Amino acid sequence: MPRKHILLAGIATVVLLIGGGWAWVSSHVERGPIVIKFSHVVAPDTAKGRAVEYFKQLAEQRSHGRVKVLVYPNSQLYKDKEELEALQLGSVQMLAPSLAKFAPLGVKEFEAFDLPYLFDDYDAVHRVTQDRVGKLLFNRLEAKGIKGLAYWDNGFKHFSTNTPVRNPADLKGLRIRIQSSKVLDEEVRALGALPQVLAFADVYPALQAGVVDGTELEASNFYTSQAYRVQKYLTLTGHGYLGYAVIVNKGFWDGLPSDVRNILEGALRDATVYENQIARQQNDAALAAVRAAGTTTVYQPTPAERAAFKQALLPVHTRMADRIGRDLLQQIYQDTGFRAAR
Ligand code: LMR
Repeated sequence: MPRKHILLAGIATVVLLIGGGWAWVSSHVERGPIVIKFSHVVAPDTAKGRAVEYFKQLAEQRSHGRVKVLVYPNSQLYKDKEELEALQLGSVQMLAPSLAKFAPLGVKEFEAFDLPYLFDDYDAVHRVTQDRVGKLLFNRLEAKGIKGLAYWDNGFKHFSTNTPVRNPADLKGLRIRIQSSKVLDEEVRALGALPQVLAFADVYPALQAGVVDGTELEASNFYTSQAYRVQKYLTLTGHGYLGYAVIVNKGFWDGLPSDVRNILEGALRDATVYENQIARQQNDAALAAVRAAGTTTVYQPTPAERAAFKQALLPVHTRMADRIGRDLLQQIYQDTGFRAAR
């Protein structure tokens, strides 16, 4: 073979080797980090806000920079309803909405968590979320293009208003902001009050403008949303639970390299332990801060007043049983040990 041809063949071989090598490299190595946009609607200084930051830190460290988590708190990107749509479209990859916000997706069984006085304490909640019902609810999300990864606590909600509330009758006729849950709508109506669905980002402006008279929030959101500046009374009814589901766009999750998915699962497991450890103390600290601020009178109902709230609100279970599903509700009652007569 003439020397010129040998040279050309040599160059072609080198080009092919480099090209093949590059094809191998590009199919085995991500170009730039995998970006996870994690959007949420509350302040960074809440149990949810802090746990999202912790998840980010663990995911980025343990993946050695292969994953980048961009956190958007305080509805910076989307409000309650929009963030779920954005997740389905893939505009964000992860969220942690409250369990009260899943019905608009067509999974109304999540509203079971909104039933008044269903849970005595966090342990009762965990017996539901960590077992068959928790798994079943996450399975229902898959058909919506969403994967449920973890349950996170917040705490127990209390009514806030600008007039003193000691008994159910004191709420009569008041406009109370609720999340977009039919169970919460029924709960507020059972008290003779008027439910108003508002996104979390709109709570403070609506209270300030007098568009609504009151809320049902747990202490940490009551404090960090600044609602305490524009609400004169907080009555510690503890009448309902507020918790979250950490969810991810299913197509995105299934498409991740399996080693990256393992790292993220581990990071989320640890962030979940952390979140559930700090949820109660965040609420206790927020309540202390509300008391210290002095703008809101915090009232602890007597046992008789608490019993009156229970009596007014427990019929909501029966009215909403068909919506939630009677079998599912029975399973939840078994797990929690709920007895209507207590
Ligand atoms: C609310 O809308 O009151 C809560 O769900 C906000 C949150 O995410 O804690």
